[in-house]
Amino acid sequence: MQISDRIIVALDVPTKAGAIALLDRLPQVSFWKVGLELFISAGPEILQELQHRHKRIFLDLKLHDIPNTMAGACRAVGRYGVDLLTVHATAGNEALAASLTAVAEGAAETGCAPPQLLAVTVLTSIDARMLALELNVPLELPEQALKLAMLAQEAGVTGIVCSPQEVAELRRVLTRDAVLVCPGVRPAWSVAADQRRVMTPAEALAAGADYLVVGRPITGAADPAVAFDRVCEECATVGSS
Ligand code: C5P
Repeated sequence: MQISDRIIVALDVPTKAGAIALLDRLPQVSFWKVGLELFISAGPEILQELQHRHKRIFLDLKLHDIPNTMAGACRAVGRYGVDLLTVHATAGNEALAASLTAVAEGAAETGCAPPQLLAVTVLTSIDARMLALELNVPLELPEQALKLAMLAQEAGVTGIVCSPQEVAELRRVLTRDAVLVCPGVRPAWSVAADQRRVMTPAEALAAGADYLVVGRPITGAADPAVAFDRVCEECATVGSS
């Protein structure tokens, strides 16, 4: 796989028109992430637009609900033919296992491959202070991320979303088939904004990430195409796999 195929760009814009403008500006991006803002405003049509352009799709819905509702939503997403889908690990073992079964059922209905489920561990915008004082979680980072990743793996969900700062430890303890996806990636030349537990793209890949999610450092750059190429060049120094 080329390095550029491991860089997922977050299509975090409010409208379909804005998304199309960004897709037109970045034809070299092969993998796009559709998050809650765009999916809620533009609906599944945006997925068809991406599929029409032969792009890979990460549908970042971060589902978190009771098992029956998670399963229903996952069955519906399974029909779309997307590549990756996020669910929150904190939904628990039963909900994660039900989600896994349901994406496969949905995909079978339309004859497409089911998406790889990714369990979100601890959001990359949450730091140690917030975890302890706002959420009252007794474990520290990265133990909490590790605990949630193990919970997901036990439920059969092999994909994990984690901070680059946890990726090396997760790579060490999880099974070999784990797919590790890291947001919270910030090139040295960009600002962190609300992301707290950040690393540069090259560092995150070197630590063991399979895919990186990069949003504003690319989409908010004066020239997004130059920014994307720069991220790819920096990552190429780590070597492709
Ligand atoms: O602009 P930025 O690079 O911070 O975008 C990161 C993207 O990754 C956002 O769309 C955000 O919702 C998503 N994400 C994250 N942390 C997670 C899971 C997803 O930042 N744990």
